[in-house]
Amino acid sequence: MISYTELGLVNTVELFKKAVSGGYALPAYNFNNLEQLQAIIQACAETKSPVILQVSSGARKYANQNLLKNMAKGAVEYANELGCNVPIVLHLDHGDSFELCKDCIETGFSSVMIDGSHYSYEENVALTKKVVEFAHSRKDYVSVEGELGVLAGVEDDVSSEHSHYTQPEEVEDFVKRTGVDSLAISIGTSHGRTKFKPEQCTRDPNGVLIPPPLRFDILEAIEKRIPGFPIVLHGASSVPVEYVQMVEKYGGKLSDSVGIPEEQLRRAANSAVCKINIDSDGRLAMTALIRKVLAEIPDEFDPRKILGPAREELKKLYAHKNINVLGSANRV
Ligand code: G3H
Ligand code: 13P
Ligand code: ZN
Repeated sequence: MISYTELGLVNTVELFKKAVSGGYALPAYNFNNLEQLQAIIQACAETKSPVILQVSSGARKYANQNLLKNMAKGAVEYANELGCNVPIVLHLDHGDSFELCKDCIETGFSSVMIDGSHYSYEENVALTKKVVEFAHSRKDYVSVEGELGVLAGVEDDVSSEHSHYTQPEEVEDFVKRTGVDSLAISIGTSHGRTKFKPEQCTRDPNGVLIPPPLRFDILEAIEKRIPGFPIVLHGASSVPVEYVQMVEKYGGKLSDSVGIPEEQLRRAANSAVCKINIDSDGRLAMTALIRKVLAEIPDEFDPRKILGPAREELKKLYAHKNINVLGSANRV
C-alpha cells in the first residue's frame, strides 16, 4: 500500500476551492503514453497551471495501471526540472466499481471518480457513499467525484445511447448523502468526437456543423441548490475543425465530427464548473500530426520522428486550453 503524498501528488480539495473562487477550471487531461504525459507536463509547467492527470479504464488496459502511476510520480519530478512546481492530481476516470476505486486508492491515486450514473438513483447513492467512506478514511484524504445524470455518446468503455440531463432537484440530496467532493453533471456534453447528430445541429456558410448550446439553465439551477460546490464537466472536447480537416487531408475519415464550442466552455469555467475533462481533442491532434508526417515523409521509420511532432502539437493544444479556455494558467 502506498499513499499519493509519497509520490508527490495532491488531492483536489484545495485546488477546487481556489478554482471555484477564482472563476476558472482545472484541466483534466487523459493520458495513456509517454508522449501525451510529456506534452501535458510541458504545457502545464510553461503556463503555470495545476493539472489533473486522468487514467481511464481504456488506459489501464492499454498501458498498465502501475506503470501509469509511476509515470505520474515521474511527472512531478519532471515538472520541477522544468522549473515549475505544478500541483499534480492522479485521478481514476470513470471508476465503475468499489473494488477498482479501492485498488487505485491503495496504490497511490490521489482522487477517484465513481461513476454510478448508469444505476438507479438509490444504487448510485449507496455505491458512491461506500467509495467516499473508504477514500475519506485514509490517513491522506483521497478525493471522490460522483456523477448524476447520463452523458450521451459512445467511447469504448464509457458509452450511453441517450443522455439524461442532471435533475437539479436531486443534487443537494446526492451530495449530502454521499459526501462526495465534486459532482459530474450532464448538461449536453458527451464523450468522443461526434457529440451531436448532424440533424441536431445547424451549419455555418462553410458547411461546418454548429451544435445546440449547452443547458446553462440546468447548470444555474444546480448552482442555486449547492452554491460553490465543485462541478465537473465530462465530454468537453471542442473537436477543432482544423484537426479534423488535417486528418481527412491525409487520408482519415472523420465525418460528422462536432464538439463543444470554446466560448461555451469558457462560460462554464467561470461558474462553479472547476474541472473540465478533455481527451478526444488530444487524440485528434496526435492523429492529425502522425498522419501528416507519415504522408509527407514516407521513408521515415523512427517512431521518435513520427511521434515527436505530434507531441509538440499536443503541448500547444494543452497550453492553449489552459490559457484561453479554462483560465487555469498562472494559478500556481
Ligand atoms: O471518458 C472517457 C475517456 O475519453 C477515456 O476513454 O477508456 O477509451 O481511454 P478510454
Ligand atoms: P471528450 O471525449 O470530450 O474528450 O471527454 C473526455 C472525458 O470526459 C473523460 O472522462
Ligand atoms: Zn468522461
